[in-house]
Amino acid sequence: MANIFTRTATGVMDWVNARAPALAPMYRKHMSEYYAPKNFNIWYIFGVLSMVVLVNQLVTGIFLTMHYKPSAAEAFASVEYIMRDVEWGWLIRYMHSTGASLFFIVVYLHMFRGLMYGSYQKPRELVWILGMLIYLVLMAEAFMGYVLPWGQMSFWGAKVIISLFGAVPVIGQGLTEWIMGDYLPSDATLGRFFALHVIALPLVLLLLVVLHLGALHEVGSNNPDGVEIKKGPKGNRWSPTAPADGVPFHPYYTVKDTFYVFAMMVIAAFIIFFAPAFGGWFLEHDNFTEANRLVTPEHIKPVWYYTPFYAMLRVVPDKLGGVLVMFGAIIVLFFLPWLDRAKVKSYRYRGKLSWTLLLVFAFSFVWLGKIGAGPGTDPVETIVGRILTAYYFLFFLTMPLWTKWDKTKPVPERVTTHD
Ligand code: HEM
Repeated sequence: MANIFTRTATGVMDWVNARAPALAPMYRKHMSEYYAPKNFNIWYIFGVLSMVVLVNQLVTGIFLTMHYKPSAAEAFASVEYIMRDVEWGWLIRYMHSTGASLFFIVVYLHMFRGLMYGSYQKPRELVWILGMLIYLVLMAEAFMGYVLPWGQMSFWGAKVIISLFGAVPVIGQGLTEWIMGDYLPSDATLGRFFALHVIALPLVLLLLVVLHLGALHEVGSNNPDGVEIKKGPKGNRWSPTAPADGVPFHPYYTVKDTFYVFAMMVIAAFIIFFAPAFGGWFLEHDNFTEANRLVTPEHIKPVWYYTPFYAMLRVVPDKLGGVLVMFGAIIVLFFLPWLDRAKVKSYRYRGKLSWTLLLVFAFSFVWLGKIGAGPGTDPVETIVGRILTAYYFLFFLTMPLWTKWDKTKPVPERVTTHD
């Protein structure tokens, strides 16, 4: 039996090779002969998990479009129809809505890994910039997706966020109307958001992910020690010219990643089956009521993954100032490779000062998220929010100084495997 299978597989591969000889070298370059550092730890699973969630979003999204109606009159009812009448529709919808939050969870952890191990430093600046572009597009993609069910929070969230463009001097009002195609979020807004959400932005996302990985595979992966394995000794059991500290991505990391993909699927299944709204964090309660332009919800707030930035917007008293601070908080991340002047990549070999500042940064980002998710009426919280926002910017803007001042430990010549 095995012989028949092996012969058939080899036959098919030879047939393909004869017709598309560029495919096999591509597979070798990116999989079986892509030598990844052998000391990857759990922080290195989130790139692959992001790809898996992306595929989940694309596949479930395609099925949702089969019954979804992109019109202000029918959108809400069509989602209810998917939930109640379409066979397995509820599962597809919850896989998509849970997937959106999971996407941001894994992407935030993926970005934090980059911060910890200095993965944005030379020669991976382009990998980081492409990652940041992915993050921007992902935010736009999730925002437009949230408007589609045409619930109360879809409508009012869209109104608040699009109205922010009204803060732009001179052209603000015109710009807001141009984006909405109306004076309020309406049928025109829904139609264009649908087109962008299901076609344009997913295409851009896919392209950016391909470029992101292409750029990474040109320079090779970083690792928890921040040691460049390409600069180290050569030769391992697979190839005399490959880095000695590298192992073939396939099968070594494909096997490891598969285990974590299943682990993530188990967690996702628990959420999908037992708590799909996740206490109002993944699907807000107000969004189970149809959009009504005459009734404002008591408390308009975006989904959790935007709330740190939303908090920054709210704690600044001036509207234009708030908008600039909010967008500035994302833009500053693009410059990270040039703000960090440390001689070592990984925080493992940086001093206590760097560690403390990084942990306070992570903590204040989460706290800002909590403030952004609240009603925003507590004056003490507003002051705390201002302090945390100031810390966010100071962390980055003074980075050239403290990364230079802080003591570093000697970096080993080769990667270490005791974690
Ligand atoms: C759809 C979203 C994304 C996908 C599918 C994705 C995918 C990947 C994959 C598969 C890797 C290699 C495995 C790994 O290191 O985990 C990687 C590496 C990397 N990604 Fe992403 N990524 C995404 C978003 C981002 C974002 C938002 C950033 C940062 C702004 C980013 C920055 C990086 C960096 C710096 C590396 C190199 C890490 C290293 O070698 O240490 N990625 N990405």
